[in-house]
Amino acid sequence: MNRLPFAFLLLLIALACTNTPAKKDAAASSDQIWWKEAVIYQIYPRSFKDSDGDGVGDLKGILQELDYIKSLGVDMVWLNPIYASPNDDNGYDISDYRDIMKEFGTMADFDALIKGLHERGIKFVMDVVVNHSSDEHEWFKQSRSSRDNPYRNYYHWWPAEKGKPNYRWSFFDETGSAWMYDSLTNAYYLHYFSRKQPDLNWENPKVRQEVYDIMKFWAEKGVDGFRLDAFQFASKDTSFPPLPEGYQKNVIKYYGMGPHLHEYLQEMYREVLSKYDVFAVSEGAGSTFEDAHALVDADRNELQMAYHFESVDLVNSLDGYQLSRFKEVFTRWDSAFAKNGWLSVFLSNHDNARLVSRFGNDSPQFRAPSAKMLNTFILSMRGTPYCYYGDELGMTNIGFDSISQYRDIAAINGYKLAKKEGRDLDQYLAKLKFLSRDNGRTPMQWNDTQNAGFSTGKPWLPVNDNYQQINVIAEEKNPNSVLSHFKKMVRLRKDNPVLVYGDYRIIQAEHPDIYAYTRTLGEQKMLVLLNFSDHNADIELPEAGAIAETLIDNYDALERAGNKITLKPYQAVVAGLK
Ligand code: GLC
Repeated sequence: MNRLPFAFLLLLIALACTNTPAKKDAAASSDQIWWKEAVIYQIYPRSFKDSDGDGVGDLKGILQELDYIKSLGVDMVWLNPIYASPNDDNGYDISDYRDIMKEFGTMADFDALIKGLHERGIKFVMDVVVNHSSDEHEWFKQSRSSRDNPYRNYYHWWPAEKGKPNYRWSFFDETGSAWMYDSLTNAYYLHYFSRKQPDLNWENPKVRQEVYDIMKFWAEKGVDGFRLDAFQFASKDTSFPPLPEGYQKNVIKYYGMGPHLHEYLQEMYREVLSKYDVFAVSEGAGSTFEDAHALVDADRNELQMAYHFESVDLVNSLDGYQLSRFKEVFTRWDSAFAKNGWLSVFLSNHDNARLVSRFGNDSPQFRAPSAKMLNTFILSMRGTPYCYYGDELGMTNIGFDSISQYRDIAAINGYKLAKKEGRDLDQYLAKLKFLSRDNGRTPMQWNDTQNAGFSTGKPWLPVNDNYQQINVIAEEKNPNSVLSHFKKMVRLRKDNPVLVYGDYRIIQAEHPDIYAYTRTLGEQKMLVLLNFSDHNADIELPEAGAIAETLIDNYDALERAGNKITLKPYQAVVAGLK
């Protein structure tokens, strides 16, 4: 089993949104609501812009670039965690939920950021990491200190006199085990992620109340949404039975989506979400369509949007992916949510390698057309699109060769484990080079000055060497850049509700190179043609005669002879149909 990509498949399942006044209206997929129409821009704060020269991105840095964010045409910004944290997992290990990480700035910077975004009509989504905390959080310090401490039950402890607990696999631990022995109280604690990320015990009503109070604290500060990190793991079978043979095929079923998950979400809705004009975004949609619908269907008063990981998991080896599988996955999920519920559309984020390197072609010849093609895809599908910072420029994988270059705990501890287990380390490194999360975390490329204008100090993760060509300033000047194409595509989506709400229908699903589909809303119909290959590809389309105008094209022209259309390598076209 390939642990790294598998972990990310599991890590990345769902997002959900809730907006109080609109919630009840959003029962059917065709019902109109702002969060369906939004384009979300995700910022990894560590890597976006450093204002004070310490090599780490910060809130003031983001503040300096608000006009850039606005210029993209996006409606919402989701920031990865910015709370106080010892940074074992870059902020996904929180030591104080009401404080800002020192490297990122102060609460005053945060307030200024929210204000600046709101002034520009952009909403803000806060990452909430409450499946686990940091082991340096005061709750855990208390919890560990003695068996009768009032905080003991904030976490999952297994007294050693009961024997060794049944095995649980950890996403990040260097030994592979999610149970950590602590001699202080002669007990094991559970950590699905790193040993510095102990799992909170959601069965304890006090823990839940703490979380709701934290969410209210941020809602009072004006955040518009919450992304609930790894939330599908919050409710567990706390008897921790032995895992059945083959559990790895469905870790979500055995590790999360526990008996009380929906109860907790409904409680969160009553306690927090229903009281503010906020939406909630939860990572985790279970393992079936039924699970996902149970989380997001409007009548449940839980969450509104889901993201599935089947698509990002299509690329989990050096072999890349089959277009036929790609089409099948997106088409199947679309039809399951055609009537009720709502999905997110994304192909990259902070847990994945770069969009163009993973799903496109990052060679100098094809990087730009394939990045434009992938952005055209994401922005022309039904569902709320997510753009991960830098993908609007077509930023590429950095491709480290040595383990010493990595900063991500998943890569570092995964390597230690592979070594311990005697696995082929060259092969492990080759996979990391292509798939590691650090590929997607290198500094934003702003201009062609030192460190790509990200920082005046030494960046915490190196800047990609190609920053002299691939950067904001260069791409802003070029009307044919990946960035200009991205903006055009965002505009097209904003101006045409058919791209948000329209029915999706795949055409010639079996075509080996081209992904073609229509979007239809009432009288309006659009045709999307995407060549996923590095060569010319023909398609015979009865619809060709109905093309009224080409609205988007990443090449100069569309080659057409009667019903036959020839697409150039990675050509992407959106056309209006009569
Ligand atoms: C989520 C985050 C990931 C993090 C993990 C543990 O999956 O997306 O980055 O490492 O949770 O918090």
